Amino acid sequence: MRDLLDAWDRQQEAYIAYREQRFEVMLEVLGTVHGDEFTVLDLACGPGAISDRVLSAFPKARVIAIDFDPILLTVARHALTERHGTDRVTLVDADLTVPGWETRTGGVDAVLSSTALHWLSPTELSAVYTTAAGLLKPGGVLLNADHLRFGPADPTLADVSARHDARTQAAAFAAGTLDYQQWYDEAARRPELAALTGERERRFANRPPQPLAPLAFHLAALDAAGFTETGTVWQYLDDYVVFARR
Ligand SMILES: C[S@@+](CC[C@H](N)C(=O)[O-])C[C@H]1O[C@@H](n2cnc3c(N)ncnc32)[C@H](O)[C@@H]1O
Repeated sequence: MRDLLDAWDRQQEAYIAYREQRFEVMLEVLGTVHGDEFTVLDLACGPGAISDRVLSAFPKARVIAIDFDPILLTVARHALTERHGTDRVTLVDADLTVPGWETRTGGVDAVLSSTALHWLSPTELSAVYTTAAGLLKPGGVLLNADHLRFGPADPTLADVSARHDARTQAAAFAAGTLDYQQWYDEAARRPELAALTGERERRFANRPPQPLAPLAFHLAALDAAGFTETGTVWQYLDDYVVFARR
């Protein structure tokens, strides 16, 4: 399944031009603030992209990785344990929109997420930030990498960002990179994952795209959640790494 995590990374890079830079800055902040021995919560981990990088960069670190997609969790379980063993990885199958998921993770030193929290409504996002603040010890950091789209008040920035995304995707797909749906089609060729397709469809039925939550919304929500320091540590057009410290 390691090959499916690698193919996932290529597929995601078609949508996020500087995805690896985002991860680099997240690891830089993580190591600078927390040293080399800590537990990270990987929120909406997918097949384990953040967890894989944390476990490789910090051999004493542990990760708790949470997601609700049974196919991605299965890929994460195989890919992460194949590469890093079982001792430092805990996978949690839970829906971040249902209160109580935090009882399955326990306290952590840092919370990281990428390309995921835009699936939550603004109300759900605020609740997740508040819950994350409750899981962190004082001084713990939260880092959230995501496209935070520009709204109608910023038409030029929205246009430049959209055209940049379109060019990035066109180049990647012309070079043969799988798109999002093709990656799931490829995964479904493995019998163990094909058996989970119906469950995945059931879990993600009726989840429409959510209204824009611009950077200002994230920062205000983090302030309200009880974080003492909030800001950004990286930006490329509408792609950001949002930072908060408990
Ligand atoms: C585009 S993927 C990103 C995965 C990974 N963080 C990465 O950067 O490669 C978005 C992830 O959010 C997860 N997700 C969406 N809504 C969720 C929810 N309510 N609870 C848990 N995970 C959710 C999806 O299952 C998926 O794994």
